[in-house]
Amino acid sequence: MVGASPTPVLDPADRVIVALDGMDADRALAFAAALPRLRWVKVGLELFVAAGPPVLQRLRDQGQRVFLDLKFHDIPATMAGACRSAARLGAELITVHACAGTEALQAAQAAAQEGAATAGLPAPTLLAVTVLTSWEQRRFAEELAIAEPLQQYVPRLAQLAAQAGIGGCVCSPLEVAQLRAIHSEPFHLVTPGIRPAGAPLGDQQRVMTPAQAVAAGASQLVIGRPITAALDPAAALEACCAELAACS
Ligand code: C5P
Repeated sequence: MVGASPTPVLDPADRVIVALDGMDADRALAFAAALPRLRWVKVGLELFVAAGPPVLQRLRDQGQRVFLDLKFHDIPATMAGACRSAARLGAELITVHACAGTEALQAAQAAAQEGAATAGLPAPTLLAVTVLTSWEQRRFAEELAIAEPLQQYVPRLAQLAAQAGIGGCVCSPLEVAQLRAIHSEPFHLVTPGIRPAGAPLGDQQRVMTPAQAVAAGASQLVIGRPITAALDPAAALEACCAELAACS
């Protein structure tokens, strides 16, 4: 089964997805509207649970493309229903947990395509989350009793997702080269943990610059605080785009 082809990434601004974390709906909308180069935003659990589906429509009305990062993980019928609804809302990237398994992933993929088609929208790309980067090896093995090292477990889940027809993965900068070596384009690799040179790390430990991540094989980058907490967010976004343009 073949997944939906992601939109080709051409302009550097198309590679950058700004995470609208810690903002209420009005602030998120105003923030996004103030960035002329902004094409993509990430709406996560916090904003979506607080503001609901209307925030997606309002962002789309402003011209923003939406990555809906709700990390669905449930039985196949519920995954399908959630992805169908998300696609109808116009989300173009949607996260699901790979460990939901093949049947659930296939149901999610089919339902997303169907939901978009019934709404007259292009099919979204589903992105599989493999192992959350908040896990570290020792605790992962002890608490979940999974003996396989994360370095092998992550690509195993990515492979499961790809075989189920999922269009891509969310992965850490440290995983992107390994996954890209196995999954060529158009398999979409979206990478958070991005820090332009000199930007504060915050709680991110293992980071890459935008140019490094794209060179390693990332299709798109999720960037939050280096842009949202910058004194001049428009200039910070512009600098990321300029860095990407210089290396393309
Ligand atoms: O502010 P910062 O650039 O660290 O934000 C990164 C975004 O990517 C946040 O929304 C965060 O939840 C998300 N994310 C991450 N690391 C992952 C997966 C998602 O930082 N492994």
